[in-house]
Amino acid sequence: MLAVDIIRSKRDGRRLSPGAIERFVQGVSSGAWPDYQISALLMAIVLRGMTSDETADLTRAMVASGERVDLSSLPGIKVGKHSTGGVGDKVSIALAPLAAACGVTVPKMSGRGLGHTGGTLDKLESIPGMRTALSLDEFRAALADVGCAIIGQTASIVPADKVLYALRDVTATIESIPLIAASVMSKKLAEGSDALVLDVKCGGGAFMKTVDTAAELARLMVAIGTASGVRTEAAISRMDAPLGRAVGNALEIRECLALLKGKGPPDLAGLVATIASRMVRLANRASTDEEAAAAVHQALASGRALDRFSRMVERQGGDPGIVDDEGVLPTARCLTTVRSPRAGMVAAIDAERIGRAAMRLGAGRDRKDAAIDHAAGVVLAVTHGEAVEAGQPLLDLHHNNAPGLDEARALAETAVRIVDTVAPAPPLIIDWIRP
Ligand code: URA
Repeated sequence: MLAVDIIRSKRDGRRLSPGAIERFVQGVSSGAWPDYQISALLMAIVLRGMTSDETADLTRAMVASGERVDLSSLPGIKVGKHSTGGVGDKVSIALAPLAAACGVTVPKMSGRGLGHTGGTLDKLESIPGMRTALSLDEFRAALADVGCAIIGQTASIVPADKVLYALRDVTATIESIPLIAASVMSKKLAEGSDALVLDVKCGGGAFMKTVDTAAELARLMVAIGTASGVRTEAAISRMDAPLGRAVGNALEIRECLALLKGKGPPDLAGLVATIASRMVRLANRASTDEEAAAAVHQALASGRALDRFSRMVERQGGDPGIVDDEGVLPTARCLTTVRSPRAGMVAAIDAERIGRAAMRLGAGRDRKDAAIDHAAGVVLAVTHGEAVEAGQPLLDLHHNNAPGLDEARALAETAVRIVDTVAPAPPLIIDWIRP
């Protein structure tokens, strides 16, 4: 079957056979399919969808495009975590060392920036020297030594996702339940986790805009994980406003360091602690939720989580000195402040606009091969429900005079809604989906 036949078949709304899906994935990972044919099929999948069986076939074929990491030589239950992507979503970077400090082994395969959302790998690579392309042996050794490691897809682990992910980022083919499910779950099944906590983002700053679509994605991924013998559960969490205050690669590393020092913003700190507690429970490191929460609190308060972060950075070639001296992280030359046009209260901070503003400042890519500016991004000066005066700073744009500055400023100026009175923000976690 030719590539063009497979593309035509999905374009016309037909179900792809397991053989056709395998052919596609092989073509992607071997380089036999050119980018234009891959992108055409991705767009056809976005527009026509896939059944849950096709999605499971796609996930299986993507896992089989590389090796599945065997972590059976490491003791204990290995617990993974993945988010479907949000603005300011730096959870994994603080969470992995925090859970490791509670005795959980955390093998973590992450992605780069996708659309208007940032990527864990790009954020980590803002740390001088930090490597996210570890070999399988290095990954296993780092896990044995530190208890956590964060890596990207490589030529030997889910190479198909490496190609598809980069193309989806720049061809408007991200927002698709089957493509997200296969991308996330192929990484999670390949990384060697025995159990998994997913964070399915929902709202204006997420790829799933409604609770119903987020729940559909969560159920599909939980079913794929469970069918593969991985104990999987998913939180559905709000992504209407950015998570925390910092959006942009090095800026988010700074916020993670603050969190690990006990000074993180409450929304981010609460979500990290909740997911860490679930990971501790899934690893059988605590027998009640209260015990798990206490272990997480203790790991943070004692500084053990921060120490684990510094060891993870060092093990992956990064400068562990950032823990004491954030000055080694890249810093933007210019700050542009956006001020409130009126007095009132902050009713909403539009995560998608903030994410797009950060991208236009250089924090994300608009082409596969584009370089990113690790120093660029947005830092919010206010949060939901806060009272502000006219002229008070709402946020700062950190930039190096990027060509997209005017566009970024226009997005940021319309991102914060000020009204006379506001209701309290609803809880971040809307629901949990379990098998
Ligand atoms: N995270 C992934 O790994 N893949 C997606 O498609 C979205 C979020």
